Amino acid sequence: MSSENRTTVPNSLNEHWMPFTSNKDFKENPRLITEANGVYLKNHEGKTMIDGSSGLFCNPLGHGRREITEAVTKQLETLDYCQPFQQGFGGSFELATKISKHTPGDLNKIFYTICGSTAVETAIKIAVAYHKAKGNGQRFRFVGRERAYHGMNIGCVSIGGMVNNVKTFASILMPGVQHMRHTHLQEHKFVSGQPETGAELANDLERICTNFGAENIAACIVEPVSGSTGVLVPPKGYLQKLREICTKHGILLIFDEVITGWGRMGSTFASQEFGVEPDMMTMAKATTNGVVPMGVVACKDEIYDAVMDASPKGAVELFHGYTYSGIPVSVAAALAVQEIFEKEDIFNKVKGMVSYFQKGLFSLKDLDSVENIRGYGLMGGIDMKMNVKPGKAGYECFKSCYKAGVNFKATGDCLIIAPQFICEKKHIDEIIDKLRTGISNYQKNLKN
Ligand SMILES: Cc1ncc(COP(=O)(O)O)c(C=O)c1O
Repeated sequence: MSSENRTTVPNSLNEHWMPFTSNKDFKENPRLITEANGVYLKNHEGKTMIDGSSGLFCNPLGHGRREITEAVTKQLETLDYCQPFQQGFGGSFELATKISKHTPGDLNKIFYTICGSTAVETAIKIAVAYHKAKGNGQRFRFVGRERAYHGMNIGCVSIGGMVNNVKTFASILMPGVQHMRHTHLQEHKFVSGQPETGAELANDLERICTNFGAENIAACIVEPVSGSTGVLVPPKGYLQKLREICTKHGILLIFDEVITGWGRMGSTFASQEFGVEPDMMTMAKATTNGVVPMGVVACKDEIYDAVMDASPKGAVELFHGYTYSGIPVSVAAALAVQEIFEKEDIFNKVKGMVSYFQKGLFSLKDLDSVENIRGYGLMGGIDMKMNVKPGKAGYECFKSCYKAGVNFKATGDCLIIAPQFICEKKHIDEIIDKLRTGISNYQKNLKN
């Protein structure tokens, strides 16, 4: 089919095997998005919806940003591709310098990947390479956490803690991975912000050190706030304790900031928001406002130096990289995003909207089918009461809200809300109002 003849409504839905989708259900009642502009989306029925989760947490600057389109177009016209191995172009160095000005402490070395999963996978490899370079090749173990989501590659699934992701692939997961318990306790029900209790859950790491030998552990990886699994906010003091234990035992602490990075928490990174400095940080999503894929790993200078020093001059120091590591089109988008962050003072804008959003979110507490609400920054999770089996309530409620005119992501029975950073109060009101309508309609149907 020539591009002029393409329509936004396809002739057949059979051939595309959709990711993380109930394919059979979707193909009976498709939800096709045809246009996106600012905070709004339009579907194939011509209905306008507000974007309540910034896409998949990746379009916080709004859809259709002209500055990004122009930067990408210009880049494609000048240099469309450049091999990232043994060659480079100016933009990727400029971007690395810009990113390193935002990262905490001396996390100044920037490795580009393709997405969040490849950023996490890269961080795992860098941790192993670092310890090997320091003469600690026995450090191969990793510690993750229950209810963590770190992406879909084998390393990511292994250190992640989502039961359904693990079950099918159990036979091919990475060896030597232990999981700490997740941090959500019953007593945290309807707590906004950081819970006061539960910091001692970090001692799970100490226990794993005792059982497996701290000297064998390469790294501990956590999302500072678990995003996709339902917005689990760390108890006060929890991340600090993890930091202390990692430092004591020479274990690298990795923060997966794929969702929390670039302003979602109010500060540039969750690391700064919670005052804890990791040894490595991963990011993706908002780095390019989601319009072209890109992932990033930021490492402490010491990690880079150790890997460099362990190799003779002229040799490739780290046998790792991707065809699309920091390619011109991604870099151009990311540089344009950096400019918007600065020009529009985005992180302060988010800070200014947090309490208004959180108040709106918690106003949904009175709805009968709502089991729990959690939130931090411009992110919130609404747990729906289970309906017959896990996941059904979340999915049915998502569809009801979609009909009511608000789009977002649901994981299991949790509705995850993450407004765009460009939202004004009226947009937050619209998201909350439409959530109320969607959830209420879902409740009514339950009773019928
Ligand atoms: C914390 C975290 N890490 C990693 C990933 C994987 O990112 P991607 O889907 O870009 O591979 C995600 C995706 O949602 C995520 O939330």
